[in-house]
This record gives sequence, C-alpha cells and structure tokens, in this order.
Amino acid sequence: MREFKILAIVVAFTLITYYLVEPYAHSQMHKHTEFNNFVYDGKDDIKEVEEKIAKLEKDKAKAEDLLKKAKDNKEKDVANAIIKQADIDLAKAKDLLKRKKEFWVEVDKIDKLKGNVSAGENLFSMCQGCHFEGASNMGGVTPPSLEHAGSLYDKRYLIALIKNPSMASNVDHKFKDPSMHPMGPVMGMITDDQSVADIVAYLKAKKVGKLTPKTAYVEACGRCHADRYMKWTQIGFVPQTKENIKTGQDIEALKFKQKVAEEQALLADYLGKLPPDLSIIIRARSEHFLKTFVENPQSQLPGTAMPRVGLTNESYEKVLEFLADSGDYKRHEREALGYKVLIFLVIMAVVAYLWKREVWRELH
Ligand code: HEC
Ligand code: HEC
Repeated sequence: MREFKILAIVVAFTLITYYLVEPYAHSQMHKHTEFNNFVYDGKDDIKEVEEKIAKLEKDKAKAEDLLKKAKDNKEKDVANAIIKQADIDLAKAKDLLKRKKEFWVEVDKIDKLKGNVSAGENLFSMCQGCHFEGASNMGGVTPPSLEHAGSLYDKRYLIALIKNPSMASNVDHKFKDPSMHPMGPVMGMITDDQSVADIVAYLKAKKVGKLTPKTAYVEACGRCHADRYMKWTQIGFVPQTKENIKTGQDIEALKFKQKVAEEQALLADYLGKLPPDLSIIIRARSEHFLKTFVENPQSQLPGTAMPRVGLTNESYEKVLEFLADSGDYKRHEREALGYKVLIFLVIMAVVAYLWKREVWRELH
C-alpha cells in the first residue's frame, strides 16, 4: 500500500510537470507563431503594425505620467521630448497601417477580376526584361527564373508582388521608396489592375512540366541560399568537369568559384548579411518554425532582411523535400528499415511465445 502511494505521488508530479509546467514555460519563452496556411491576406502584416502602434502608445502614456510627476524643468524637458518623438512615430505608424490595409483590400479586389490569359502573355514580355535564363544580378540579387512561377507562388501573392514588391514580401521597412526595391520598376510599368489580373492569369494557366523538389528550391530560394550538400551555389550547380573530379581544381572550377564569391558579395551588400547555407537546416529547425518562417519571415525574426517568398502549400512541400534530401538523405533508408524491424519483432514475439509454452509444459 505504501509503495502504491509513493507511485501515485510520483505519477502526479510527473503529469503536472509534463502537462502544465513545461507547456507554460515553453509558451513564455517562445511566442507561438500562428500559421496562416500560406494564405496571403496581409493579416500578419497589419497585426505587426498594430502591435507597434500599441507599444508606441504605451511609451507615450508612460512619458505623460512622467511629465505629471516631474519635479523640475529638466525632467519636464525629457518627458516632453519623449512625447514629441512618440507623436512623430505614431503618425508614421498610423499612416503605414492605413496604407497596408488599403493595399490588401486592393489585392482582394484584383483577385476577383477575371484575367485574360492571352493579354497576360503579351504583358509578360515586360517581366522578361528582367526575368530570363542567365539574367545577371540587379540591385543585389539575381531575378529568378519564372518558368514554374504559376505553380510555385500563390495567386494573391503574385498580385500583391506585381502591385508593390516590397509590401508583398513584407520588407517595405527596408526601402524609403517602394520603387527602390530591385523589382520596384515594375510598379511604373504595370499600372492598371486589369493588367495585373491578366499576367497572373497567364502565369497560372501556363502549362509546364511537374514541379520537382529541385526546381522548387532553385527557383524559390536558390538565388539567395547555397546548399553545400547538394552542390548548389547562388548562381547554379557546381560544374562537374572531368578535370575537377580528378584533381579537385581546374581553371573552369576556379572561374566558377570567383563568380560565386562576387554574387555572394552583392547579396551580402543588399541583404546586410549572406543568407545561410541551408544544407542541414532541416535538422536545426522544427517544421513549424520553417513553415511559419517561409510564410512570413518577420514573424520569427522581426526586422529580418529575408523577404516573404509567397509559396503555396504544395510548393512548400516540394522545397521541404529538397531540404530533407539534403540534410537527412538517409531518411528513406531509415523508414524502410523501420518496417523490417517491426516484422522481425512480430516474428520473434511469436517464436518467444511458442518457446515459453514449450518450456512451461515440461515444468507442469
Ligand atoms: C526591374 C526588373 C524586374 C521586373 C520588370 C520584374 N521583376 Fe520580378 N524580380 C526582380 C528581382 C530583382 C527579383 C528578386 C527580388 C528579391 O529576391 O528580393 C524578382 C523576383 C520575382 C519573383 C519571386 C518573388 C519571391 O517572393 O520569391 C517573382 C514571382 C517575380 N519577380 C515575378 C515578376 C513578374 C510576374 C513580373 C512582371 C509583371 C516581374 N517579376 C517583373 C526583378 C524584376
Ligand atoms: C532574397 C533572398 C532570400 C530568398 C529568396 C530566401 N531567403 Fe531565406 N534568408 C535570407 C536571409 C538574408 C536570411 C538571414 C536572415 C537573418 O538572419 O536575419 C535568411 C534566412 C533563412 C533561414 C534561417 C532562419 C534561421 O535563423 O534559422 C531559413 C530557414 C531560410 N532563410 C529559408 C528559406 C527558404 C526555404 C527559402 C525559399 C522558399 C528562402 N529562405 C528564400 C534571404 C533569402
């Protein structure tokens, strides 16, 4: 009976720790980030500005309190200066909130227009001024291939991107003027909503081969992130010549290395730092982190230079598969082995049972 009580106490404490203390500690240490199912409606972006406004208002209220309790002119001056600055920041933030709300309402409106595919095909030639096979770096980053853009990117995201690239990818805080984004000039080229709808309709209707994990990664992430294990660099796969396979070095390989270094320097200049190699990111970060980060990088790293990429659920799965092939390439083998182990255990259990019956029969 005594043992039973001890056991009950141990079990009770374990359960309390597991179900109450640990989740509480976790929720305090990591703010939970909502996943919006790769729906791009600006909800997160608007919430971010609203939170900023709430914080500024709190700061202002604190300063007003300070002003009331101020004992001398010096304290009053300090409080007044804080209030003045808060008012300036508040006005800016409120203006931004208004613009963000209007922007996403506009995206919604265009989403409801019916696009004309062949008109869109003609207009798309404007995009190809920057986006073409072998394009070179432009303002810090190389425009990606849009071969699979229709299946890679979400429809509303594409609409938002053509309307205002920095707002769509939630990096507008980085640019004084949205036209300074490397894709900014598009805003002056395509100015009416129907044209936006037409181009997006064309991209969505375009028939291309199946999206493979490799293509998804290369087109969506590859211009910024190398993947060493997959031999991917920001400008392409490391060329494999007979010479460099044998000796590890030849003139072509050296030239390629130099070009990679140049591209990386431009990227680091544009983004403030070189985006990390993603070879083993699948081991470093949880799946929840990865998907909420790709959906809206600002949600996990406020102020980060990584733009939102605008993937759909399906194309995100492809990117994830590429990252798993890179960082956890034995997983298929391991999964296959799992079944074999289970079958082995079942057979052994039967054998053990039969053997036990055999032994006990003789004892009785
Ligand atoms: C002035 C050159 C320019 C024009 C014109 C242009 N783009 Fe871009 N585009 C870029 C650059 C540069 C990037 C990479 C931006 C980055 O990674 O920050 C880009 C990125 C993209 C992306 C990837 C966005 C993402 O979030 O990963 C898509 C999709 C895209 N452009 C579509 C288009 C379409 C459609 C058009 C025509 C309506 C167009 N672009 C016109 C330069 C341009
Ligand atoms: C325009 C360049 C750009 C593109 C495109 C891009 N990223 Fe990034 N990414 C960055 C930068 C810059 C950072 C560093 C962020 C920081 O530390 O603030 C980063 C960081 C990351 C991180 C590390 C976050 C962490 O701290 O653990 C992951 C994961 C990531 N990116 C995944 C992706 C995936 C997946 C894609 C494609 C779907 C992608 N990125 C596309 C620029 C980019």
